[in-house]
Amino acid sequence: MSETSSSGPQRGTSSNVVWHGGEIARADRERRLGQRAGTVWFTGLSGSGKSTVAVELERRLAEAGRLCYRLDGDNLRHGLNGDLGFSEADRAENIRRTGEVCRLLVDAGVIVLASFVSPFRADRDQVRSLHDAADMPFSEVHVHVPLEVAEARDPKGLYAKARAGEISGFTGIDQPYEAPETPELRIDTSTHSVGEAAGLVEAYLQRSGWLGAGG
Ligand code: ADX
Repeated sequence: MSETSSSGPQRGTSSNVVWHGGEIARADRERRLGQRAGTVWFTGLSGSGKSTVAVELERRLAEAGRLCYRLDGDNLRHGLNGDLGFSEADRAENIRRTGEVCRLLVDAGVIVLASFVSPFRADRDQVRSLHDAADMPFSEVHVHVPLEVAEARDPKGLYAKARAGEISGFTGIDQPYEAPETPELRIDTSTHSVGEAAGLVEAYLQRSGWLGAGG
């Protein structure tokens, strides 16, 4: 059995709490699963195709026997993050909590596919740092489309509402989207199909050693 973790993250303001390590390490779980755990973080405008690509990638990975789990902004906002809105502070908290969930799932040996608009670079960088500190793989995938394309797709009718002034603080309309400067991958879904986009991420994971031998 591998060396177990003796201390956890150092962040937070709780006092009088002490990290209680277990006897099973992430490496043991990864060995059993035959994969390297980590987080693939999809960021991009609403309507860019992040969630659609993540769903297709999850299907492919599951078919190949990988244990993966999808975290989706819209879905988590139905529960864990249901108390949060879309102010900068609430988005930061949304991403912070999600980053912590990613960390727990990666510790459990899972390949996490997280799709969040996550428009602010600092919030995404914080999630990356959390992973780095725990020596966990983290890859940022910028799912890019020109705003006009996302707006023309408008799958949920939200751009129309934002243009009509019925939603304020909508990313790309009256709140900024800070594109990643050096993402591990950038995929344009206006020129690549969903299948091609998922294939590009899968190929990246393969050559980065996440999927184990022959995976
Ligand atoms: S994030 O900015 O905090 O990362 P998250 O990914 O959780 O956002 O949620 C984004 C989803 O919420 C969008 O796909 C869209 O369906 C919905 N939404 C509602 N209001 C907004 C808004 N003001 N800006 C962006 N997305 C919004």
